[in-house]
Amino acid sequence: MTAINPLIAGNWKMHGLGASVCELEKIASVVGEPASKNGVAYIVVCVPATLIARAGEKCAGTAVGIGGQDCHAEPSGAHTGDISAEMIADAGAGWVIVGHSERRTDHDEKDAQVRQKADAALRAGLTPIVCIGETGAERNEDRTLSVLKQQMDGSLPASGNFVLAYEPVWAIGTGVTPTLEDIAEVHEFVRDYLVSRYGGDGAAIAILYGGSVKPANAKEILAVKNVNGALVGGASLKADDLLAIWHACPA
Ligand code: PGA
Repeated sequence: MTAINPLIAGNWKMHGLGASVCELEKIASVVGEPASKNGVAYIVVCVPATLIARAGEKCAGTAVGIGGQDCHAEPSGAHTGDISAEMIADAGAGWVIVGHSERRTDHDEKDAQVRQKADAALRAGLTPIVCIGETGAERNEDRTLSVLKQQMDGSLPASGNFVLAYEPVWAIGTGVTPTLEDIAEVHEFVRDYLVSRYGGDGAAIAILYGGSVKPANAKEILAVKNVNGALVGGASLKADDLLAIWHACPA
């Protein structure tokens, strides 16, 4: 079986001013230098675009990566207010979230657009973290797996050099999580899909679970088969919480 180095990714969403980067300093001081990350989970924190450069400076030389939360599909152009993948990379990030359910809802982003963003991120040298997830209504109608397949068909990039985050929309920010059996079922389905589409590369893609992950439930969720890490929103804002989740990650 392909060994996948687990990844704990934080998503600060629209939270954080300059003073917040001290939380990253704390994380970086515990996680340490790149050499120490062998066999343990990586940490990546996806901060607001305004903080990428400052966050990058605080974490330079450590095993803590910095990511953006969205990018435009074009490298440059007349798109007032948007930020390209090249700009995010230039500011010092190595990762970017694309297709988060809040983007899909707030900005009506469709699968094809998410795929273009993921491809743009790869062209800019960033690792995209592509998000998929069913709504509560879709789960209640027993359509979870077909919705996820449709999202993966439409949103995933051409090359298998990305991270996939499964985030049930109804679990985000609610304190409610699926059962461990439900998480296992979806992650197995996603793994099979990735292997059939990307071959050997698909076996090495990290599949993160996201939605109300916190220190209290991290250990049991991260131990589920085919769960290779977590995408963490609310609990990523405090260094101690994110570090507790990181410590809960099996090596
Ligand atoms: P949450 O958010 O951990 O606050 O539920 C997860 C996410 O939206 O990525």
